[in-house]
Amino acid sequence: MSLPSVLKSAWAKPVVHLLCLAPLLFLIGSAFADALGANPVEKLTHESGQWTLRLLLVTLALSPLRQWTGTAAWIRFRRMVGLYTYFYCCCHFAIWFIADHSLDLGDMLEDVIKRPYITLGFSAFVLLLPLAITSNQAMIRRLGRNWKALHQLVYAILLLAVLHFLWLVKADYLEPTIYAIIGVVLLLHRVGPMKRFNLKSFTAAR
Ligand code: HEM
Repeated sequence: MSLPSVLKSAWAKPVVHLLCLAPLLFLIGSAFADALGANPVEKLTHESGQWTLRLLLVTLALSPLRQWTGTAAWIRFRRMVGLYTYFYCCCHFAIWFIADHSLDLGDMLEDVIKRPYITLGFSAFVLLLPLAITSNQAMIRRLGRNWKALHQLVYAILLLAVLHFLWLVKADYLEPTIYAIIGVVLLLHRVGPMKRFNLKSFTAAR
C-alpha cells in the first residue's frame, strides 16, 4: 500500500483521532488507578502542557510533510490535530485555573500579569481561540485571503509556547530546546531554501 492510499483510507482519520485521544485516556486511566504520582495536579498540568506543544508541532509539520513527500493527503489531518491542540490547551489552562485559582477570575488575571511565563502561555492560549473558531470550511470561505493571514498567527503561538516552556524550567533546558529546534526547522520550511526541498526529487537525483 502506498503512502497516499494509507493517508486517504477510510480508517486513517479514526486512527488519528485515537492517537490524539490516547494521552487523555492514559491520564484518565492513571487517575482512576491512583497512578499520577505524589502530586497529581502537577503531573496533569505538565502532561497537558507537553501534549499541547507536541500537537502544535505536529499540526505545523503537516504542511512541510506534504511538500517534502509530495503527498497532499497529509493536509486531511491538519484541522483535526489543530483542534486537538486547542483542546489540550483548554485542559492545561482549566487544570491551572481550577487548582491554582479556584476559578477566581480576578486572582487568575493577577497571576497572568505578575508571572512572565504565565503571561506567555496565556497569550498563546488567547491567540489559539480565533484559529479554532475559524478552522471550519464555512469560515475559510467567508474569510477568503484573510483566513491565511489570520492563521499565520500559529507561528507567534509557537514562539510564545516555546518561550513559556523555556521560562518555566529551572535547570534542564534540553526538552524545551529540542521543541525549539523542531519549531525552527518548521519555520525555515516557510521562508528558507527548505521550502523547495522534496524527498522524491532528492532520491531521484541520487
Ligand atoms: C499554547 C499554549 C501552551 C503551551 C504549548 C504550554 C506548554 C507547557 C509546557 C510544555 C509545560 C511544561 C511541562 C513540563 O514541565 O513537563 C507547561 C507548564 C505549565 N504551564 Fe503551560 N502551556 C500553554 C499555555 C498555558 C496557559 C494558558 C497557562 C495558564 C495561564 C499555562 C500554565 C502553565 C503552568 C502553571 C505550568 C507548570 C509550571 C511549573 O511546573 O511550575 N500554560 N506548559
